[in-house]
Amino acid sequence: MARDTLNSSVTSIGVIMNGVTGRMGTNQHLLRSIMAIRQQGGLRVSATHTVMPDPILVGRNEAKLEALAHRAGVDRWTTSLAKALDDPFNTIYFDAQLTQLRSSAVLQAIEAGKHIYCEKPTGVNTAEAYELYTRAKARGVCQGVVQDKLFLPGLLKLKWLIDSGFFGRILSIRGEFGYWVFTGHDQISAQRPSWNYRKDDGGGIIVDMLCHWRYVLDNLFGSVRSVVCMGATHVPERVDENGTPYRCTADDSAYAIFQLDGGMVAQFNSSWTVRVRRDDLLTLQVDGTNGSAVAGLRDCVMQPYAATPRPVWNPDQDSPIDFAKNWMTVPTNQIFDNGFKTQWELFLQHISTGSPFPYDLREGAKGVQLAELGLQSWSERRWVDVPELER
Ligand SMILES: NC(=O)c1ccc[n+]([C@@H]2O[C@H](COP(=O)([O-])OP(=O)(O)OC[C@H]3O[C@@H](n4cnc5c(N)ncnc54)[C@H](O)[C@@H]3O)[C@@H](O)[C@H]2O)c1
Repeated sequence: MARDTLNSSVTSIGVIMNGVTGRMGTNQHLLRSIMAIRQQGGLRVSATHTVMPDPILVGRNEAKLEALAHRAGVDRWTTSLAKALDDPFNTIYFDAQLTQLRSSAVLQAIEAGKHIYCEKPTGVNTAEAYELYTRAKARGVCQGVVQDKLFLPGLLKLKWLIDSGFFGRILSIRGEFGYWVFTGHDQISAQRPSWNYRKDDGGGIIVDMLCHWRYVLDNLFGSVRSVVCMGATHVPERVDENGTPYRCTADDSAYAIFQLDGGMVAQFNSSWTVRVRRDDLLTLQVDGTNGSAVAGLRDCVMQPYAATPRPVWNPDQDSPIDFAKNWMTVPTNQIFDNGFKTQWELFLQHISTGSPFPYDLREGAKGVQLAELGLQSWSERRWVDVPELER
């Protein structure tokens, strides 16, 4: 521990970042979270104490790691996870590798006594994901999973409306997520990695998005009790990062309905094969007895009962109501930082001071569980109940 002034101290925390050359690892976790926290002078966790994350980049390709380290201004990188784990200076293990590589690396890190923070999905099935929770708990290390959507400004504004009682009784939630992901044909490269469309590589939109919908619904509205889901692979062939065509073996669209505690119904369409004619790439419409709201990534609009127009069905006339108009914008009353960074700061605070961090590996396993049950519902063409995972 180094003293920077008489009254305050700075502790450096070694953070092993595995899978950091990928899309999420580089942009959200290294550059916009860890490096951003360093650039702001660390995280002040008490009146007299600041923690400074000190990343070590881990991956398979030395040249890529070195290039990223130079770009980010990081001076530690290695292709040996074992070496990084051996160094007692490194107390946090973070994982943003491909999903099927997560469990074995996280288990090694738990064994080495590191605190665990990782991307979702936390495993390829519920059993694997849940084991991470029980093993981390038994080893007594801190644990966390990324639940970034909870920290989106639009969803924080929506939460504010929920907590204020704006909706009265919430009846239903409609989630529309998606955009057109180019196939890689016609010299326009795809804007998502090709593994997303191959089942054997951990791809598929059900696995990807139902993890998110689980924590969004559980945290904002009520626990998910049952699911019915249908997936589809609408686009059968895409072109990979090397320009080689490949067959898509994973679902690129999911049509799911969830029943929640308290009788609420949530219906989510998730798709990489739709074009956007809505306010944002993700919109959540919530309808309640006293009002409705639609949240996007950053904004949220609301329509109270007293401002609700009274439409009458008449296709023979142009509508006298401009339906997009009768909505008020929820004001931006606070500054919203990057959601991934905010969650990193909560985790660093948690390991430094023992402050609450509810997004543990059991929560991660719950996301994997909903995805797995969604896939089961699709293959068996039926509703599937969601059992409680033991604490
Ligand atoms: N929280 C979110 O919103 C969100 C969004 C996208 C992805 N993710 C999750 O983050 C993880 C990484 O996704 P991404 O989109 O960054 O993927 P990506 O393909 O861009 O990155 C994958 C990373 O894993 C590494 N890797 C290790 N072994 C590999 C192998 N055999 N083949 C290919 N890559 C290998 C790559 O080098 C790279 O660092 C996934 O688990 C994904 O589900 C989360």
